[in-house]
Formats: sequence, C-alpha cells, structure tokens
Amino acid sequence: MDKQATTKKEIQQNLLHWFDKNKRDLPWRKTKDPYKIWVSEIMLQQTRVDTVIAYYNRFIESFPTVEDLAAADEQDVLKHWQGLGYYSRARNLHKGAQMVREQFGGEFPKEPDKVKKIPGIGPYTAGAILSIAFNLPYPAVDGNVLRVFSRVFAIKEDIAQPQTVKLIQQKAAAYMPEGHEGNFTEALMELGALICIPVSPLCLTCPLFHQCEARLQGIQDELPVKRKKAKPRPMHMVFCIIGCGTEILIVQNPFGRLLKGMWGFPGQEGSTGKDEETVERILTELGIAASGVQKWGTARHIFTHMDWDMHIYRCEAESKQAVGQPHRWIGKEETDQYPFPKVYQKILSRIKW
Ligand code: ADE
Repeated sequence: MDKQATTKKEIQQNLLHWFDKNKRDLPWRKTKDPYKIWVSEIMLQQTRVDTVIAYYNRFIESFPTVEDLAAADEQDVLKHWQGLGYYSRARNLHKGAQMVREQFGGEFPKEPDKVKKIPGIGPYTAGAILSIAFNLPYPAVDGNVLRVFSRVFAIKEDIAQPQTVKLIQQKAAAYMPEGHEGNFTEALMELGALICIPVSPLCLTCPLFHQCEARLQGIQDELPVKRKKAKPRPMHMVFCIIGCGTEILIVQNPFGRLLKGMWGFPGQEGSTGKDEETVERILTELGIAASGVQKWGTARHIFTHMDWDMHIYRCEAESKQAVGQPHRWIGKEETDQYPFPKVYQKILSRIKW
C-alpha cells in the first residue's frame, strides 16, 4: 500500500476506534430510525447538544413517528420548539414530514436527490441522515467537520468559500470507510466537538495526532481560515403591550417571515428619541385607540443578523377593536397556549398583569 492509502486507513481506524471508546451517550445514538435522526440533526443545526437533549426527548415523545408529526398541528409543533430559536427549522420539519407521508409513502427515502427535496434538508443534513441511518457513503460536512479536515489536511483556504467546502466534501466522501459510514460521520462530529475544538485543540489526546498535517506543521491554532461574518445590525425597536382590562393583545407573525407562525407583541423599528411617533404608528396601523401610554422597560435580543435594542411601552385600549392581522386578546393563564419566541418571552415573563 502506498503512503497515502496507509494514512487513510490509519485515519479511518483511529477515528472509529476512538469514537467507539469515547462517544457521548446521546438519545439519538440509540436509534437508526431516519425520522429520529432527522429530528436530532435539525435541532443540532444551530443549537448546542446539551440544550437539544431535553427538546429532542420531548419532541419524540409527542411525535414518535413521521406520521405523528405529519398529522400534528403546526402550532403544537412550534410549541415544542419554543426556546430553540430559528423556527423555520420546525416549520420545515413539519412540512417535510407531510412530504414524506404524501410523496414517499411514509418511508424516508434513501436517494440523496429525493432527500434534498425535503424542506430544510441541505447537503449536510442529507449526508448525516443517509450515513447515520443507512450507512450510505454521503458525508455530512458542517462547521465542525470543516475544522477537522482543514487541520488534518492543513487546508489553508477560506472555509467560508464554497469551493473550499466542496473540496472538503470530496475529501470527506473519499475517506468514508465501507460499512462504517454512520460511525465515521458521527466520529468526525464528535472529534470536532470534544478534541479538535476551535481554540486550543487538545492535540495530545487526539486519535489523529500522528496523521494531522496542521499539528505536524505546528499551525493547528491558525486553522481553519475563516473570513469574519458581518456583525448583527443594531436596531432601535419599539413594542407596545396593549392592555384591555385583564387581557393583553398578542399578534401572530410579529415580525414577518422571520417569526412566521409564532406569537408576539406589536412592534416596529423606530428612531432614537422618536418613540412616541413610533408608538402612534403602531397603534394607527392596528386601528386601535389607546390611552395612558407609558414607558415600561427595555430589553435586548440578538439574532443572527439583528441586534434589537427594545423599548417597551404599555397602554390601555378603549375596547377590543378589530386588528388588521391575526391576533388574540389573552389573559395571564392563556400565555402558555401560544408559541412565543425567546425575544417576546423576555417581555412576557416580566409583565405585571
Ligand atoms: N452535531 C450535529 N449532529 C450531531 C450528532 N449526530 N451528534 C452530536 N453532535 C452533533
């Protein structure tokens, strides 16, 4: 065997052996059901493992099969996602379950082209599910795996560039060991999470210590090379808690597509020093006559692209007038019936009813 083939075999064997001995006991590792692996991968896309565990268990308990999820009410699905953020993940998962039921007869497909047609599933998630559930040789390259490969092969190109991702995807596909594709995928993720961490990787305990090009060249702390993302845009936001007796007004889709299906408080972007005008605009657009406008507090919430400096006002509506968007007037005890994203929970939890 030439040197390259020997190194490849060593990388595969060392990684699989290390994973076998060191893998964390995680609930989605006790199953080969593609539906459950799909749910876990979607939850894990933007959320930490520690946080996902409880959400995953609760979700699977409520929706144990793809049919159960397909038949569920979207509001109920969103309610199970409350607090995880990035709610389009939940809406897509729900739509995806309906697609699996209607187009694939309830069986999760094994063909990558079909899998990638499911809403919310891109190349990464497709590779993760196909390799983990079915041991098929499709790699799952996420941020962790990009970091591991850029170090193991001392790849110095920017991993934010599509051509670098492509190169690493090809390498990852070429390194998948036959018959152990699922474990290899998870071993790479696990190595990235536990050993080949972003800052000060733990090379001394790494199973690829002898094979890692970056470590051999002493450049593991400089890799991967990644262009900085733009900072979230600071926005001055104004919100109204509109009361009517013991009830308050909540609106659905409070910020357009971003929070579609979720519930929150009427609000708009405003300018510093002009909150009164913004409050007026919010009330006018809702068609509500209200009085007793008072500043009630501030809060901050950072999304991927926006940094909200929130100024919250309270006022009293004359009556429960018609409002030109889906809405409810709710009392304190009804709040847990509606899915609220974190940003509005920050407001909700501090309301003095
Ligand atoms: N991150 C993404 N997918 C994962 C998995 N299957 N196990 C642990 N962490 C992950």
